[in-house]
Amino acid sequence: MEHIVLTNGLKKSFRADGKTIAAVRGVNLAVPTGEIFGFLGPNGAGKTTTLRMLTTLLPPDEGTAMLAGCDLLKAPRRLRERIGYVSQAGGSDRGMSAWENLLLQGQLFGMPRHEAAARAKALIMTFDLAGIADRRAGTYSGGQRRRLDIAIGMMHQPQLLFLDEPTTGLDPQNRARLWDEVRRLRNSGVTIFLTTHYLDEADALADRIAIMDQGTLVAEGSPRELKKQVAGDVVQLGLGPNGTHQEAVLRLFEQQPYVREASYEQGQLRLYVYEGEAQLPDILRLLDQAQVNLQTISLSQPTLDDVFLRKTGRSLQEA
Ligand SMILES: Nc1ncnc2c1ncn2[C@@H]1O[C@H](COP(=O)(O)OP(=O)(O)OP(=O)(O)O)[C@@H](O)[C@H]1O
Ligand SMILES: [Mg+2]
Repeated sequence: MEHIVLTNGLKKSFRADGKTIAAVRGVNLAVPTGEIFGFLGPNGAGKTTTLRMLTTLLPPDEGTAMLAGCDLLKAPRRLRERIGYVSQAGGSDRGMSAWENLLLQGQLFGMPRHEAAARAKALIMTFDLAGIADRRAGTYSGGQRRRLDIAIGMMHQPQLLFLDEPTTGLDPQNRARLWDEVRRLRNSGVTIFLTTHYLDEADALADRIAIMDQGTLVAEGSPRELKKQVAGDVVQLGLGPNGTHQEAVLRLFEQQPYVREASYEQGQLRLYVYEGEAQLPDILRLLDQAQVNLQTISLSQPTLDDVFLRKTGRSLQEA
């Protein structure tokens, strides 16, 4: 697998009020080319600090990184030409229109005017800004401004685009829409590195994720892999009211090799099962053989919050 980002021991501390804050404590990241990489973690985890180091805005205290074939420390200028960065606050000037913002960005990257105009026009179409392209960005809705921010980041055709909390503050409809835009960018060959503190966003959007907490990485993998590592699936069975059976049923399931853990509470049998989907037929067969009166059955997958909980001892929602 080819990696467009490889970091080795990145570190950054800040001094504030006479105290040292170790914001990033030695981060090793490997981001596969052409994928959506989700960087997940609670407030203050060190996501933005990492991103600012990778985009040359903040010098690391220690560590090295290669991005898009460039050494972060030795070739920052060339690196900046190959990457795009949309900050948490966005990069648009609210006093200027989408069109003017895009042309200015083209100018900053030294694009010839006709080339910048053609590129701006294409991006205005791609990000569905045509109806508002001549209006001041200060008058845009949150979703419209976010789309402009990303268009600005894409102006110089980067191979790798960093998005810091791209959907914070957007309503569900605009979030879903932005996810589609991000997927489309990925499908067009751009690698996307995005930070988020939304579990569902990382789960739905990212091909691969890294979870950061208090300056260090606590987990890395595809959402599916990570969830599999942690808990297995949960199969919940609602049993009918024939009390004598239940202990026996519990024991029966505890003996099955695919059951990691089984518990019984208030008529509900909970089984933690590896690959629950594949085992459901067998579970049903066993219940049938034991002549158990089954009333309900449900299968649920562990969430990324279960992963976070397992790795840090607390829930991401609380953190
Ligand atoms: N310039 C700075 N001076 C002092 N401390 C800083 C500075 N920038 C960041 N920090 C601290 O470093 C830690 C990591 O901050 P960072 O912005 O990287 O977190 P984050 O994961 O992006 O959080 P969020 O989800 O809230 O955006 C925090 O404790 C923050 O207060
Ligand atoms: Mg941040």
